[in-house]
Amino acid sequence: FLLQFFVGGNWKCNGTKDSISKLVTDLNSSTLEADVDVVVSPPFVYIDQVKNSLTDKIDIAAQNSWIGKGGAFTGEISIEQLKDIGCKWVILGHSERRHVIGEDDQFIGKKAAYALSQDVGVIACIGELLEEREGGKTFDVCFRQLKAYADVVPSWDKIVIAYEPVWAIGTGKVASPQQAQEVHQAVRDWLKTNVSADVASKTRIIYGGSVNGGNCAELAKEEDIDGFLVGGASLKGPEFATIINSVT
Ligand code: G3H
Repeated sequence: FLLQFFVGGNWKCNGTKDSISKLVTDLNSSTLEADVDVVVSPPFVYIDQVKNSLTDKIDIAAQNSWIGKGGAFTGEISIEQLKDIGCKWVILGHSERRHVIGEDDQFIGKKAAYALSQDVGVIACIGELLEEREGGKTFDVCFRQLKAYADVVPSWDKIVIAYEPVWAIGTGKVASPQQAQEVHQAVRDWLKTNVSADVASKTRIIYGGSVNGGNCAELAKEEDIDGFLVGGASLKGPEFATIINSVT
């Protein structure tokens, strides 16, 4: 059976009030398939603007969150605050946070557990570096990252797994449908063995890394690809709409 597709637009550290206003206008005027879950992730400072102007058919995911309750943590944003401004989801474990900022598996796991404890859904990212793929370690790395989530999360009901091979992110080198499917299937098998058959069959596994309007349809045909996490192409409203509508 098919899981409901899930497409996220990760705007990363891009945009201004004006460019985001235009993007929201474009998204509001797009015709989007009704049976796809869609979220966008604006930079924190624009979430309120987007929440107040975007169609309610699209939910908001934050790009990061603090590991626990707020307080004396200069520069951080708590899950409670994100909920307060209307975020239903948070992206955690993104490769840019792992490899540019230096977040490790345990820190990411804590964030995921806390977000779920507050009923905020988690887009849990995993993915290998180029040298790890070339060294034959793709599955080892993805399974290690998955285990760090599995060890601490109370349930998988509000988790979407995003497989994003780091070598494909922002590079224009999209994984082939076969390369992506191979890992997605391995992730589902891992869930079956290490969590449960029920979780394996119900958890969306989405692909990210240079997805665009031209390559999304082929990827979407693969059995274990249940949607996309889109970076660059999500900054263009019509192209993001094409990606959302490719997945039915
Ligand atoms: O979160 C999104 C991914 O990092 C993909 O980014 O579509 O620009 O390659 P990209």
